[in-house]
Amino acid sequence: MNILIIGSGGREHAFAWKISQSPKIDQLFIAPGNAGTAEFGTNLEIGVTDFPAIRKAVLDNKIEMVVVGPEVPLVEGIHDFFLADELLKDIPVIGPVSRGAQLEGSKDFAKEFMMRHQIPTAAYLSVTKDNLEQGIGFMRGLKAPYVLKADGLAAGKGVLIIENLAEAEDALLTMLGGMFGLASETVVIEEFLKGIECSVFALTDAENYKILPVAKDYKRVGAGDTGLNTGGMGAISPVPFADEIYMKKVEERIIIPTVKGLQKDGIDFKGFLFFGLISVKSEPYLIEYNVRMGDPETEAVILRIKSDLVDLFEGVAKGDLAERELVIDSDSAVTVMMVAGGYPGAYEKGNVITNLENVSGSILFHSGTKMSGNKVVTNGGRVIAVSSKGKDFRAALKLSYQNASKIEFKNRYFRKDLGFDL
Ligand code: AMP
Ligand code: GLY
Repeated sequence: MNILIIGSGGREHAFAWKISQSPKIDQLFIAPGNAGTAEFGTNLEIGVTDFPAIRKAVLDNKIEMVVVGPEVPLVEGIHDFFLADELLKDIPVIGPVSRGAQLEGSKDFAKEFMMRHQIPTAAYLSVTKDNLEQGIGFMRGLKAPYVLKADGLAAGKGVLIIENLAEAEDALLTMLGGMFGLASETVVIEEFLKGIECSVFALTDAENYKILPVAKDYKRVGAGDTGLNTGGMGAISPVPFADEIYMKKVEERIIIPTVKGLQKDGIDFKGFLFFGLISVKSEPYLIEYNVRMGDPETEAVILRIKSDLVDLFEGVAKGDLAERELVIDSDSAVTVMMVAGGYPGAYEKGNVITNLENVSGSILFHSGTKMSGNKVVTNGGRVIAVSSKGKDFRAALKLSYQNASKIEFKNRYFRKDLGFDL
């Protein structure tokens, strides 16, 4: 089978690495891909939302399945675009139709969905310019800190958590005034939940589901979860506190009601469901949905999936996922993200990366790299994910850290305290 992966990050490199091991794969294409994905297939210079160019590439290369990495093309309706096209409609897309993608594309939609299907989550109110007074009243009734979320996609930056009420009220006005453009025309104000977070992933064919390995990501740039939010500085799988008892609660209270809720709402959701959870006194609450795999969680989780991912994707496409096998390795897997100095603020691009060939025992997934002549150079804030397995997360981390310290590029940085909270 010929498969096209949409996206260009570490997640997509991890997909390419795994899919290329499938006996079912003939040719693999990645649009646009990066220096790492080029090892496993053909990179196509096409943007992830350039649907006409994707259409042409699919037809020219006889693509038989499309795996969508990031959320933006899903929210913009790539799956719907395929369904509406006579020549594309029978080519399976792994990723939901746009109505399903609203679970990630609109926080207000997601919260209404959670309420409708009785899924445990933080109390909230959606606010626009029209019910501002009510919004301020709701916020005054909450305890600090105050959680304010832009309704729409904001590249992971749309959530503000503010200690002081007056500042939170100002921030609400600034957000409604266009701080995140149209994405914050509606703001979701939420009760703050205190607890420890993890990411749970499921693959669904709209009827059945398979739960993938659970992971914890580290979003803050600095040691001890301090400093600015990033796209993710690393991840660990499994997560010790997400034990069998906890995961059973997650399945019964969150995963099953979500899959059934989508059915009841008439949404044919075929793809990944990502549950961003917070554990409050060992009870799971859903903070957010994403409709794709996590990055950098995928770069760890993928190492623990023993089964053929393409076979599972076929199950999603054909609606017989229940009959497919998912075997998960009991070992731990981690990923350590090497980033460019200055990230998530201003950082340099185009610096040469060396010593990649000296890495042993870890797998490297490129996040922001490209080829410049015969050299690999940095091409983003998050540069390379160093992924390893081990009998526990500490052993796996040790290996990733040893290898990360061998890789050189100007002003490289990575967190050295992942797992400190576990
Ligand atoms: P989100 O984009 O919804 O995942 O929010 C980004 C981050 O903000 C989450 O990973 C949490 O760390 C934090 N957060 C979001 N909502 C809440 C909440 N209701 N209570 C506490 N922390 C939250
Ligand atoms: N690691 C969190 C995300 O992918 O959104």
